[in-house]
Amino acid sequence: MADPFAKLILPDQKEAIQLPIKEGSLGPKVIDISSLSNHGIFTYDPGFRSTASCDSNITFIDGDLGILLHQGYSIEDLADHSDYLEVCYLLLQGELPNAQQRAIFEHKIKNHTLVHEQLSKFFNGFRRDAHPMAVMCGVVGALSAFYHDSLDIKNPEHREICALRLIAKMPTLAAMCHKYSIGQPFVYPRNSMTYSENLLHMMFSVPSNDDLPNPVLVKAIDKILILHADHEQNASTSTVRLAGSSGANPFACIAAGITALWGPAHGGANEAVLKMLHEIGDVKHIGKYIERSKDKNDTFRLMGFGHRVYKNFDPRAKVMRQTCHEVLSELNKQDDPLFKIALKLEEIALQDDYFIQKKLYPNVDFYSGIILNAIGIPTNMFTVIFSLARTVGWIAHWTEMISAPGLSISRPRQLYTGEKNRPFIAMQYRD
Ligand code: ACO
Repeated sequence: MADPFAKLILPDQKEAIQLPIKEGSLGPKVIDISSLSNHGIFTYDPGFRSTASCDSNITFIDGDLGILLHQGYSIEDLADHSDYLEVCYLLLQGELPNAQQRAIFEHKIKNHTLVHEQLSKFFNGFRRDAHPMAVMCGVVGALSAFYHDSLDIKNPEHREICALRLIAKMPTLAAMCHKYSIGQPFVYPRNSMTYSENLLHMMFSVPSNDDLPNPVLVKAIDKILILHADHEQNASTSTVRLAGSSGANPFACIAAGITALWGPAHGGANEAVLKMLHEIGDVKHIGKYIERSKDKNDTFRLMGFGHRVYKNFDPRAKVMRQTCHEVLSELNKQDDPLFKIALKLEEIALQDDYFIQKKLYPNVDFYSGIILNAIGIPTNMFTVIFSLARTVGWIAHWTEMISAPGLSISRPRQLYTGEKNRPFIAMQYRD
């Protein structure tokens, strides 16, 4: 059956322009406006509130119902029954692995966990008190200087090896950022450990002791990684796609994604939530902060609340709240004052007319910081952990884009509001 069309009649034209309406497997239909520029007009949608930028079969979100699916599997099922490496395989390959595929994938990842010794020298160029996200932008981008053997983006084998390298090396680099900032020696990856065990091992062990990571905390960090693995065409993923559309290598594209993630409106919110909870300090101050967040003359916003797509509970926040209970109980920190403030803050905000009318609910960042904090991960490392987890989503989207036929550079247009053409003024005649 032929696609239906939308008709657009411009003020100075008699004939309607026919714009195909396309339908995906789930979610709203889209109007294909790509032919509009032939009619001398562009669409205008700052912030991309009404724009689908690509076709994708990786992740689906229904923001009204609070649904998140990866390749058709719900985030709740994946968080409960899967683990991060399996979710990585799912995002990259489109299917859950069988036992043999899983073993081969894990083996391949473990083959790439080390970083080039020369790369460790890069860290000395940074101040010890540099924000770890600043260091991550630098060292992840620098990976492209080490892997000339796999930078042909048209070669599927090169693309695969880049994906494996990035997923394998991110925990090593993240842990190196932490160790560098506290002046401890870098810890090499241990391939006898699982992915998440290894992350905690590299973050927290020191050569002078043999402590192994607590299995409950390993499970919690693995869940955090699953919950952050992918989220459709968000700001950082769109940044990776945009950078990749020019043919840039994947290491450079992922570094671009890290920069976009850093902002407090996006991945930087987990760090901002913890700072906010500290600032609130006591449940008795919550009312004041709720009022501030509603005041148009105050720039304060409730961090970890609201989402561009979710107008209902972020399903990841629910899993995160439950994980928070589990971690705090394992660590005998059920009375954690920050958790108490967070629970009360959520309760009060969800009953407040302002938040109800604007459909503002807790997002993934609201509880993740409390868990990371309880595990012992410093606040400035929170967004680094997010970037580590999201790397698989970024690389899955990059691969999907590069391997699709007809790749073309992403190049938006603008509504120009500057000066019109004017004659040059020589210096002596300028005011
Ligand atoms: N606290 C108070 N008011 C808020 C909040 C909040 N956290 N979020 C949105 N609002 C209000 C806005 O002031 C606006 O009010 P108005 O219509 O009267 O002007 C309305 O709700 C809509 O907000 P927008 O900024 O238009 O929503 P947008 O979709 O652009 O932004 C965002 C979404 C950036 C997530 C926003 O809700 C926010 O800043 N939240 C806090 C930061 C945060 O938690 N970010 C993490 C997002 S999840 C992620 O990226 C991993």
